[in-house]
Amino acid sequence: MNLTARDLEIAALGPCRFESPLGLSTVRGDGRGNFVTEERRIHLHAEKCLDAPGPEDDLLLEKTGPRRRIFFDPEAVTAAIVTCGGLCPGLNNVIRSLYLELTENYGVRKVLGIRNGYQGLVAANRLEPLLLSESVVEDIHKLGGTILGTSRGPQDPVAMVDFLEARGIDLVFCLGGDGTQRGAHDLFTEVNRRGLEAAVIGLPKTIDNDIPFVDRSFGYLTALEEAERVLRGAHVEARSAINGIALVKLMGRHAGFIAAGAALASGDVDFALIPEIEFPLYGEGSFLGALHRRIIEKGRAVVVVAEGAGQHHLADCEREHDASGNRGHADVGLFLKDEIAEHFRTENLPITLKYIDPSYVIRSVPANCADRLLCDQIARHGVHAAMAGKTDVLIGFCNGNLVHVPIGTVVRESKTLGVEDDRWVNVQLATGQPRWGATLHVE
Ligand code: F6P
Repeated sequence: MNLTARDLEIAALGPCRFESPLGLSTVRGDGRGNFVTEERRIHLHAEKCLDAPGPEDDLLLEKTGPRRRIFFDPEAVTAAIVTCGGLCPGLNNVIRSLYLELTENYGVRKVLGIRNGYQGLVAANRLEPLLLSESVVEDIHKLGGTILGTSRGPQDPVAMVDFLEARGIDLVFCLGGDGTQRGAHDLFTEVNRRGLEAAVIGLPKTIDNDIPFVDRSFGYLTALEEAERVLRGAHVEARSAINGIALVKLMGRHAGFIAAGAALASGDVDFALIPEIEFPLYGEGSFLGALHRRIIEKGRAVVVVAEGAGQHHLADCEREHDASGNRGHADVGLFLKDEIAEHFRTENLPITLKYIDPSYVIRSVPANCADRLLCDQIARHGVHAAMAGKTDVLIGFCNGNLVHVPIGTVVRESKTLGVEDDRWVNVQLATGQPRWGATLHVE
């Protein structure tokens, strides 16, 4: 990231004209109190290197939280919530907490649930928004999925802003991953071009945990917990068979956070293959060579592969793009399954190979406790940001703090698991797998 302080400046609709109705304690002289002042900042980089302090050490992010003065008159506000992209545990929790914070605490009277992602913001699609109420949201936090429906892909920002204007929508909360946040930024740009007073707030959602400025996105820990359960079963299968190999494919298009996290949480994984690290298949130091040795030594192995891993072995395969513009993957799980079977057949070493693909199962469940807490926090802080008139802002999560990050900056960056990332180092140490492409040195 080559960032300057300017990249982290937050856009606002204008001066805050109203007193917050939250009734929290007023700010003391030291800037502290329940209300958060505009001057509060969080360091982007928590770690400092004393022998090489870089200029990036001074990068600061605006702290989220309730402001004493707000931009919008709550009683005159109409808010809208839209959920986009793939499912993720916690979507309904965020919808519910947004609704409750808006209505119970700020006194907003109208909250609309936009149907089927950005498609629901285009009038021509004739998707009437759902008017949210206490009875609609009452029990939704116990459910997986999204009560609003979702879809992938961008929509025309002009048509979407026409819809906002026609419905008198002042606040839009966009729940989604990188594609959704690109859409939110386009929405902001069009709102801004027309000079409208509407706030666009991004709430980061993905089980892949690959959104920049978000240490952990909601849904990730729940997905890990489910993946770990699958790995437990995979390990039992491998252990109970003669030369048992369990191959488990997990999601992770560009980033290996799920595969790496599940491998660490499980403690039973012998190989974790992720998109960030290319691995050789045959010969000295290769995946198949190391797997062969592991079977000889241990008589069993559990292999986890992220869906985006090993694509260099599948370069000739046909790919399509999904509606979000993501290049499709050739199925590395099925490919490896065949390669493993073929290798051991050729080597005349009988194995029992089980292939498990729980991809969608791990993301359709309700959020676990840790994710529920995070969902509630980011939703309420999203409302505080919107009511204060902040716009084009994503609720980020940096070094244990929720922060405001310009969506325009978020969508220019990317987040993957670095080979020197502590988590990846630990995966290598825990599995004992070859250190492909890694720079790890253990004395
Ligand atoms: O973006 C999250 C994710 O779970 C990715 O890991 C995966 O590639 C993608 O969604 C698949 O979603 P769908 O099949 O619904 O488009």
